[in-house]
Amino acid sequence: MPKKNHFYRCPICFSLVDLVHDGGHSLYCCETEMLPLEPQSEKLTDDYHTCVLTHSNGLLYVKVGNKPHPQSDEHRISAIYLVTKQETRRQDIKKGSPATAVFTDTDHGDVYAYCNVHGLFKTSF
Ligand SMILES: [Fe+2]
Repeated sequence: MPKKNHFYRCPICFSLVDLVHDGGHSLYCCETEMLPLEPQSEKLTDDYHTCVLTHSNGLLYVKVGNKPHPQSDEHRISAIYLVTKQETRRQDIKKGSPATAVFTDTDHGDVYAYCNVHGLFKTSF
């Protein structure tokens, strides 16, 4: 079972935080409390945000969307995470680059894709 991951987002500037250690205090940004960011329900996942996973030769290939997700300044996938029981790995996605990532493969994990407009999407394997 992967560890519980805690993502928080500022409701004003939309900065995203991946909490590494919970010290038991609230997080603040723009002089307001950051809110927990929960992944969208898999029922709400659409063709642009579904994480397509391919396991091959010890690698895990992640492609966000059956259809290519926009990768503009205004709307893009900015990061893809692989969360396992032991660790969290992150691949930052540059503007204009395809929403893809490659990680060393594992037996189990959760893959998160963060869209700056539509939020967080999760796929477990
Ligand atoms: Fe999106």
